[in-house]
Amino acid sequence: MEKYIITLDEGTTSARSLVTNKKGAIIAVDQMEFTQHFPKEGWVEHDAIEIWNTQRTTLIQVLNKSGISPSQIEGIGITNQRETVVVWNKESGLPIYNAIVWQDQRTADYCEKFGRKELDLIRDKTGLIINPYFSGTKVKWILDNVKGARELAKEGKLMFGTINTWLIYRLTGGKVFVTDHTNAQRTLFYNINTNDWDDELLNLFDVPRNMLPEIKSCSEIYGETFKGLLSKNDETQFKICSSIGDQQSALFGQLCLNSGETKITYGTGCFILMNTGEKKIMSTHGLLTTIGVAIGDKITYALEGSVMVAGAAVQWLRDNLRIIYNAIETEWYAGQVNDDKRIYVVPSFTGLGSPYWDSYSRGAIFGLDRGTKREHIVRATLEAIAYQANDVISAMQKDIKAPLGKIKVDGGASNNKFMMQFQADISRSKVIKPINVETTAMGAAYLAGLAVGYWKNIDDIKSNYKIDFELTSKISEEESKKLIKGWNSAVQKTFGWIKE
Ligand code: G3P
Repeated sequence: MEKYIITLDEGTTSARSLVTNKKGAIIAVDQMEFTQHFPKEGWVEHDAIEIWNTQRTTLIQVLNKSGISPSQIEGIGITNQRETVVVWNKESGLPIYNAIVWQDQRTADYCEKFGRKELDLIRDKTGLIINPYFSGTKVKWILDNVKGARELAKEGKLMFGTINTWLIYRLTGGKVFVTDHTNAQRTLFYNINTNDWDDELLNLFDVPRNMLPEIKSCSEIYGETFKGLLSKNDETQFKICSSIGDQQSALFGQLCLNSGETKITYGTGCFILMNTGEKKIMSTHGLLTTIGVAIGDKITYALEGSVMVAGAAVQWLRDNLRIIYNAIETEWYAGQVNDDKRIYVVPSFTGLGSPYWDSYSRGAIFGLDRGTKREHIVRATLEAIAYQANDVISAMQKDIKAPLGKIKVDGGASNNKFMMQFQADISRSKVIKPINVETTAMGAAYLAGLAVGYWKNIDDIKSNYKIDFELTSKISEEESKKLIKGWNSAVQKTFGWIKE
């Protein structure tokens, strides 16, 4: 009987489960959106129990849809929205507060308080910068603001996890409390030089070490799911055998396995990661040093640029401005205007991430005149996503002092040919899209399959990668420079907008 791997892909807006076969084809998908809570301006929360319930439901449903029997599943891989924080009670297993999401800006003012010495310490030890984006200040916020939390933490009664840890804990019926290096590294508590939690960092954020999970590799068996997961009297137990942050998973799923290989994932945000092999490149241009993947004892590093709003800007066109009904229409609208009106949309709705790191920037539209139409705004929004990715690509090129010849793309917007051509035009790199754009799910599936011998080694999966299209720049270098100059001027005008 044919065997399969299931990936649980828990993203920012939905939980998904995907069944993969040996050839790397996705044979069934189930997806459920969950509620986004915005209790205050700049705050974003999820209900961790709802996340667990939706994730579990999609797992059950994907098995039903695929018609596969549970005994045909070799293992489960997990990939997840990173940095989002869940703190729960060790005795009850229940969260003491909603999950605080990576986009949440409530700790922006706290992040301003650090002096040069601490900023350098954080930079050198974590490879990150101090910013509300990462988990550390969110955990501190929960301990400082949820009634009784500090006392419980002191008594060793609380557990902290990013979403992978939370799901593994629930899937194993509370038996396994682990994370992996890629997720651990995004907390601000993890030292990239020792590859372990760091007491000095924990003291800085006043977070006790006893709340933290054990750090494991991305590809190993962490435990088994509890009996009764699928239905009350069902005895099935699945092996859980990979855990990796979603952006790193896409890097692996894109088979960016060698130093210099780069991918862009266009999702809610947009994340550009370059494999840097065993080398930790400390960016001097606003990028992050991150862990690409950990297999056995081998850690592979990556350079990352995190753009906070990408697909979310298209959602804004649809749900707030209501000038489109469906994201798919954007390609058509953008193609309707060929004049040289230069409209710039800066979608810094939650501040700016790489390479600017300005939590106080807010969105703006520049260049409007009486002739501006919906088509211009739609086109400028798509272009804004590409400009933001290009800002990161330029920073990467400066850091590695070499041009980026090619970039692999995935995520919903990679199907948008207008946008991909514009990306190739301004970035002047070859843009390559694989046929299977579910690279995030594939990364975790490959790592799970490698852990249980479903795939013997990396060579075994390489032939699964098939290219859909490749694009190169169709405009002159001078023209792309002119466009980027306009973007730079627009984005700079938004800096510090909400700061008194
Ligand atoms: O760092 C945040 C990132 O992991 C979120 O990814 O795909 O859920 O938008 P996504």
